[in-house]
Amino acid sequence: MSDDALIAIKPSIASTAKVTAETRAAMVARAKSDPDGFWRDEAKRIAWMKAPTKIKNTSFTGDVSIKWFEDGELNASVSCLDRHLEAGRGNQVAIIWEGDDPNSDSKVTYAELHEQVCRIANAMRALGVKKGDRVCIYLPMIVEAAVAMLACARIGAVHSIVFGGFSPDSLSSRIQDSECKILLTADEGRRGGRKVPLKVNADEALKVCPSIEHVLVVRNTGADVAMQAGRDIWWHEAAAAQPATCAPERMNAEDPLFILYTSGSTGKPKGVLHTTGGYMVWASFTHELVFDYRPGEIYWCTADVGWVTGHTYIVYGPLANGATTLMFEGVPNYPDFGRMWQVVDKHQVNIFYTAPTAIRALMREGEGPVKKHSRKSLRVMGSVGEPINPEAWLWYYRVVGEERCPIVDTWWQTETGGILISPLPGAVAQKPGSATLPLPGVQPALVDGEGKFLEGATEGNLVITDSWPGQMRTVYGDHPRFIQTYFSTFPGLYFTGDGARRDEDGYYWITGRVDDVINVAGHRMGTAEVESALVAHPKVAEAAVVGMPHELKGQGIYCYVTLNAGEEPSDALKKELVAWVRKEIGPIATPDAIQWAPGLPKTRSGKIMRRILRKIAANETDQLGDTSTLADPAVVTDLVENRVQ
Ligand code: WT7
Repeated sequence: MSDDALIAIKPSIASTAKVTAETRAAMVARAKSDPDGFWRDEAKRIAWMKAPTKIKNTSFTGDVSIKWFEDGELNASVSCLDRHLEAGRGNQVAIIWEGDDPNSDSKVTYAELHEQVCRIANAMRALGVKKGDRVCIYLPMIVEAAVAMLACARIGAVHSIVFGGFSPDSLSSRIQDSECKILLTADEGRRGGRKVPLKVNADEALKVCPSIEHVLVVRNTGADVAMQAGRDIWWHEAAAAQPATCAPERMNAEDPLFILYTSGSTGKPKGVLHTTGGYMVWASFTHELVFDYRPGEIYWCTADVGWVTGHTYIVYGPLANGATTLMFEGVPNYPDFGRMWQVVDKHQVNIFYTAPTAIRALMREGEGPVKKHSRKSLRVMGSVGEPINPEAWLWYYRVVGEERCPIVDTWWQTETGGILISPLPGAVAQKPGSATLPLPGVQPALVDGEGKFLEGATEGNLVITDSWPGQMRTVYGDHPRFIQTYFSTFPGLYFTGDGARRDEDGYYWITGRVDDVINVAGHRMGTAEVESALVAHPKVAEAAVVGMPHELKGQGIYCYVTLNAGEEPSDALKKELVAWVRKEIGPIATPDAIQWAPGLPKTRSGKIMRRILRKIAANETDQLGDTSTLADPAVVTDLVENRVQ
């Protein structure tokens, strides 16, 4: 099959799907000709305390201002909980929790989830948390993580989740940046049979976080952890002391819902800010359309709530739509490589959403672990986080889904709040490796280096020309950085940082980042962050970090390191530097290769030529291009000769 081969829409899905090719075309047309009318109608999918009369008020120029539904009032937790109770669905399972240990699982109904959320919301209020205050969440994949998010939403507090795999340093810098008032964490987390020392990490981080007044601690593994008198409180005790109902705060549509830190090409991670009304509409709209979600279905997104995928497609989207959402504490290869499919069968999962890096890792183990399980319940399967190579796509489609399940390759970003480009199962034919077409209301375009629009089948920088409700509103505390990062490269356009190709059918093929951001196993990493971790080591003079192709992770982290005069390179020092970066940032930033560099290729003005470093890391040393503008071209010869295999 050629790359561009079409995989037709399944008649069985199209005949019952909410969105077909015809209705999709009508939606696309209306969203373009009458955006206010279109989004006023779509906004009805969530519960408003006061329905909005103003719909879209956005500008990508000047000070950049993005407002949707600006006079509407709502509470996100009401859309996710109360209205399902009012509709008589309180006894439906909201969350299926599947533990790291295959023998541990539990189910939480909408009524039970509502009660847990109200108790923790009351507990936070009792600790003095008010509307607009920031709350940091550093929890493993347990039900309490969803409870924590919704409890913040309930009282109008802004949550900022930090992935449990981040180091104390990464945690403290995020807490400091948004001046969080309380921290919600656990004694320990579990992953792949190992324990993650969350409370120990948190205690380390909090040594430099004066804004934190209290810590609520979930007793999860039962490990013996230090509790600081006056500051630390057990979650279960706080919950038990509170009433089971809690009046939801009345929020304006443009009041913040959450902050989520993400890496950029420069400087420290940015606090991406999402607000309430537009984000909720986008989460619900995209979850229903892209997964062709139908009432009663079991839906499983394998992400962690520490990433945006977990926010939108484990918690807010599915719960707004009244789905049963599965939360998985574990990893794909524990206790064996059949775990995903064992869980699919155990809970009769209908919709499954995972990342290419997981698919590639499972593919390497062959069909055996897949075929041991039935997978008959699966109906739609998704992919997210990085480009999926056609080979992995076809394996997913043929072996896992037995050519029965459409694959939705969903392109989006932390900044976009939810999916922007993806097939719809009943409406868009797929091509292995292509994210296909934009959702109704999304207007992508390709531009050249000067910002000139490129037409037809072509390749260029991916921009979005107009706003959609789920778009981020600002960088927390730094609006100029928001404008600078996303709207200055191509003035008047939202720049994604991605490159893409568009084929003759108008399908988009994302080619990857065109900036200094790399994508390691679906996790976004700023090369600048790894560089600053490296140069913080006392023996390191200078460092340059680039992505390199990696069979499983998509990209690996390749570091060029120049040592201080007098320091001797050694394998022991390499190991030390790897451990150092893991400690500074977290295990997701583990360098894959370190090359000793007596010098780095710099222009005469001192700018590092990363293009050359990327080519060397990728072993494409025959394509180094023009090196004559370098201050010292001999540097390149040395780097090529000593490239890490
Ligand atoms: C970057 C965003 C979207 C939630 C998870 C990652 C890459 C994401 C795809 C896809 C090709 C993709 C892009 C994007 N990316 N999905 N389906 N095909 N690339 O969110 O950490 O904000 O990263 O991930 O490069 O810019 P994120």
